[in-house]
Amino acid sequence: MTTSAVLNRSYELPKEAIPQTVSEEIGVEERDALTSKIKQLLKEQNSTIVAHYYTDPDCQIIADETGGYVSDSLDMARFGHDSDAETLVVCGVKFMGETAKILNPEKRVLMPDLEANCSLDIGCPIDDFTAFCDEHPDREVVVYANTSAAVKARADWMVTSGSAVEVVKHLHDEGKKIIWAPDKYLGQYVKEQTGADMLIWQGACIVHEEFKAKELEALKDSHPDAKVLVHPESPASVVGLADYVGSTTGIINAVKTMKANKFIVATDRGIFHKMKLAAPDKELIEAPTAGRSATCISCAHCPWMAMNGLRKLAHVLETGTNEIHVDEDVISKARVSIQRLLDFTRDKTATILAGDA
Ligand code: 13P
Ligand code: SF4
Repeated sequence: MTTSAVLNRSYELPKEAIPQTVSEEIGVEERDALTSKIKQLLKEQNSTIVAHYYTDPDCQIIADETGGYVSDSLDMARFGHDSDAETLVVCGVKFMGETAKILNPEKRVLMPDLEANCSLDIGCPIDDFTAFCDEHPDREVVVYANTSAAVKARADWMVTSGSAVEVVKHLHDEGKKIIWAPDKYLGQYVKEQTGADMLIWQGACIVHEEFKAKELEALKDSHPDAKVLVHPESPASVVGLADYVGSTTGIINAVKTMKANKFIVATDRGIFHKMKLAAPDKELIEAPTAGRSATCISCAHCPWMAMNGLRKLAHVLETGTNEIHVDEDVISKARVSIQRLLDFTRDKTATILAGDA
């Protein structure tokens, strides 16, 4: 049986209207000037940029051009951990900066905007979550990466969209019962895939929750040759229409490797930058969302991811502002749940490679 947790869902969205991409605001001259300034500052300060696929193409391009990294949240954590840079500049949302700090407490971690948050993180406050866990002490606590450092510190495991099914399957095989937080849709998907006994927190991603199954079905009908790719933070009715369900990296790989030439993509449109590079000849169509209008703040584009851009990147490198700080006690506890995942995925990859040999 799935027990629902009580959830306060009042999100404070960014106050300014968010343009489709921040880069549209910047002219060629300003972009060139900012780019050279950022490149110089990165070198002088032995810094590197780690960016998520949903951030503005400007952030992704400069990360790639300067030896940084663009990826999903699992690989962002891995890269920060392995990098020799003294400063990590994380283009993404708060939990990504915190994860980088937890894994690299000796490094300086900066973010273009400290207000860049996530509805899943906001929807899972530590006090309510602790009370929920305390009511079920017999359960293994598994939390999604999209949570605060404090929530990770209360957890036994942190997982990402690319690793959740494998980890929960492993725990289920060991006979463990699970508390899952915070994404109810991903939780339900994992539960269905693994058959595990899961109590699911009722959080949601404001971006993926808006993909609509009825409209997607109609779009599929008008493009019968298209394959549908869906991020598992989407509602079950949308996931049910997918030809592939996976993390952002998984979705990009699917466009590269699947035989089709046309894809309907149900995730943040920021991913199209890398997808087009990965498969320039393939046709990509955005999955439909409700309320597509001038006031739509989260339709297929995360308003918090959109807070990252070149101007803010240059500003934080110049001033050293927006540094991420996490309490030492929280770091040492949260590190255990994150490290478990990194060890698990490394061992898993080693097993797969050994099997392939
Ligand atoms: P990925 O780990 O798949 O990149 O997902 C992160 C995220 O925030 C999706 O909304
Ligand atoms: Fe959070 Fe959704 Fe934005 Fe990802 S896209 S950071 S899950 S609000």
